[in-house]
Amino acid sequence: MLVYRTFKELRKFLDQKTSEGLSVGFVATMGALHHGHVSLVEKSNQECDITVVSIFVNPTQFNAAEDLEKYPRTEKEDLAMLKASGTHVVIMPSVEEVYPPDLVTPEVDLKGLDVLMEGEFRPGHFAGVVQVVGRFFDQIEPNRAYFGEKDFQQLLVIQEMAQVLNSPVEVVGCDILRENSGLAMSSRNLRLSQKAIENATIVIEQLNWIKDNFQGESVEYLKSQVANAFHKKPDFELEYLEIVTAHDLKPVQKYEPNSRAFMAAIVEGVRLIDNISIS
Ligand code: PAF
Repeated sequence: MLVYRTFKELRKFLDQKTSEGLSVGFVATMGALHHGHVSLVEKSNQECDITVVSIFVNPTQFNAAEDLEKYPRTEKEDLAMLKASGTHVVIMPSVEEVYPPDLVTPEVDLKGLDVLMEGEFRPGHFAGVVQVVGRFFDQIEPNRAYFGEKDFQQLLVIQEMAQVLNSPVEVVGCDILRENSGLAMSSRNLRLSQKAIENATIVIEQLNWIKDNFQGESVEYLKSQVANAFHKKPDFELEYLEIVTAHDLKPVQKYEPNSRAFMAAIVEGVRLIDNISIS
């Protein structure tokens, strides 16, 4: 496995490989890797000749300085995990490499996909995601890029960005990986105590309950029942629960096919997000 710190070195390697007709898959990460990331690498390896993984904790997508500071950094373990997963190349650029002073970032109209949910509670977050992913797409020029559906809103935002910018990159969504308890795998889980990890199953339990009851009940009723369930767990704060159409994230009031439920909850100062198809 090759590890590069600059886009120039990476470009030289990729130019050679693409001139041989090889295809490139890309997995963007901020490190603190888990099996969810490995599953993206495996999918890329199945579909592309070369898999490039980026590890870069992107400062422009954090709206709270404290969250950026606390973001887990586990470089040694990440590289070992990527090597074992069959990753071909890792790019670990510095902030200066990603954001040189003369960088021009195009404005992207995300058609309201960035307004609700994560967009509302983390202002500026998606502008930062679009900026960094756009920069990596420009530098790596992958054929396909793989993103997990745990960040489903992010996936739609990146697909929209690729379309607006006329990017040739195919943006592929991949299933959420879960612990045996049902908790969605996330780098942030590393910051939770054992007790919080056990109790965090409330998130997927409530999402599954919504899925089971969606057809017969109003969204207002579903939301109030979930709020009640969270009141019984005082360690958890329900930040939002939204039920929206899966393609454009517009809120629905009653059963509609192709809907999705999204939730964010805070425990021990850590935000947990999850979502589920409830069609
Ligand atoms: O999902 C993430 O880890 C990040 O938002 C991403 C896509 C790597 C951009 O920094």
